[in-house]
Amino acid sequence: MAQGVRTMSEIVLFKNIQKNGPELFPAGAAAIPACGYDDYVKNGGYQGARKALKMAPLEVQQVVKDSGLRGRGGAGFPTGMKWSFVPMDFKGQKYLICNCDEMEPGTFKDRALVYGDPHQLIESMIIAAYAMQMTQGFIFIRCEYRKGARILEQAAAEALNHGWLGKNIQSSGFDFHLDVHLSAGRYICGEETALLNSLEGKRANPRSKPPFPQVYGFLGSPTIVNNVETLCNLPHILARGAQWHKSLGLNGNAGTKIMGASGRVKNPGLWELPLGTPMREVLNEHAGGPSRGKSFKTVIPGGLSTPMMTPDQFDTPLDFDSVAKAGSRLGTACLIAFDEDDCMVAATANIMKFYMRESCGFCTPCREGIPWIYETVKAIAEGKGEEGDLAVLDDMARHIFHTFCAFAPGAQGPLLSAITTFRHEFEFLIQKSQCHTAGGAS
Ligand SMILES: Cc1cc2nc3c(=O)[nH]c(=O)nc-3n(C[C@H](O)[C@H](O)[C@H](O)COP(=O)(O)O)c2cc1C
Repeated sequence: MAQGVRTMSEIVLFKNIQKNGPELFPAGAAAIPACGYDDYVKNGGYQGARKALKMAPLEVQQVVKDSGLRGRGGAGFPTGMKWSFVPMDFKGQKYLICNCDEMEPGTFKDRALVYGDPHQLIESMIIAAYAMQMTQGFIFIRCEYRKGARILEQAAAEALNHGWLGKNIQSSGFDFHLDVHLSAGRYICGEETALLNSLEGKRANPRSKPPFPQVYGFLGSPTIVNNVETLCNLPHILARGAQWHKSLGLNGNAGTKIMGASGRVKNPGLWELPLGTPMREVLNEHAGGPSRGKSFKTVIPGGLSTPMMTPDQFDTPLDFDSVAKAGSRLGTACLIAFDEDDCMVAATANIMKFYMRESCGFCTPCREGIPWIYETVKAIAEGKGEEGDLAVLDDMARHIFHTFCAFAPGAQGPLLSAITTFRHEFEFLIQKSQCHTAGGAS
């Protein structure tokens, strides 16, 4: 896409990616050297926060509302509207929390933002905190991003030295203290209410909603939990205006989205693209098409917790409403691709194993149902399936996910779509005890 359209990734991140070659993140390494304070400022950093601090807090909220920004954590809830539920007249401590748990399989976009451009996230949090008059912030980061946590701590120390954190930032009269919290690690910790329990030192079970965190969150106080990518849009929206942000998307969508691809693609990676970019463009132009000379069989669009989509749906624009209309969810827009040699029964067993291991065990249908589903799908994949298994799986998949949080419905997405769209693969394995794909059910 044109250089001028990049927002979150334009300041430093993509320059560093280019410098370091196409391999973004070799396992365990911070391949992208983090951008320091001086570079960040030289490239236009902290201009958005400077502007925000001169406005009234409610004016900042209005700009964010007008920009059409929707949450990038998966659900796409309008950010400005979410902020407006925070009681501005609350006299006690209010909290801003950045959700950098990012344990969604196939999703690595927040990692790029944190490792490449930590000051952008700090500037974003200053803007959000000021808009809601929250004087304490936390970045909740998964323990596998230990290096990312160190990068953020280092950047926060620099920001403090330059008067962007702490008391009376930039002589504005506004205080903002920021702490980095390394999670002990669980997928459920990314769910915002489980995250709050975890941050309070409790077991990371989800809480019932209502009350919503905006009014009763961390330690019972008004709290906003926002995703890393959601927040990283803010400096650019403030610096260039709501209308500019609105104009970036396609087909009436606002803004850009960091989209990703992994699995059976030639060039796995991340690209900042207009919201509404067709899935086919991401798969073929940016990710280079299928990796082993085969055709794509299916794509899970939003990390793992979204229903599978088939090649006849690849023209779907990657935006919240279009993907929902196509029967799936945009989620994190980090696509996981499968090709014709992949056995979807084995893949489903693998997917359900993840959810079985990560269930927090709080709700009975999730705790008991997912292991049962995993064992059934695994037995089918191993050629030990029985007549009637599919009917029971159908029933379980539709009715078992009545739970407190969206974890189990997340597991339901890929499961239900697999047993519907690739039913013939399940039936073939049950009848013949072998997989009908060339790759086999390994
Ligand atoms: C099981 C589960 C895991 C989640 N993990 C994350 C995560 O790692 N990062 C994230 O931002 N949101 C995650 N979410 C969504 C959060 O609950 C919340 O909606 C999000 O942080 C809100 O941010 P946003 O409004 O900026 O999108 C998860 C939700 C569920 C149900």
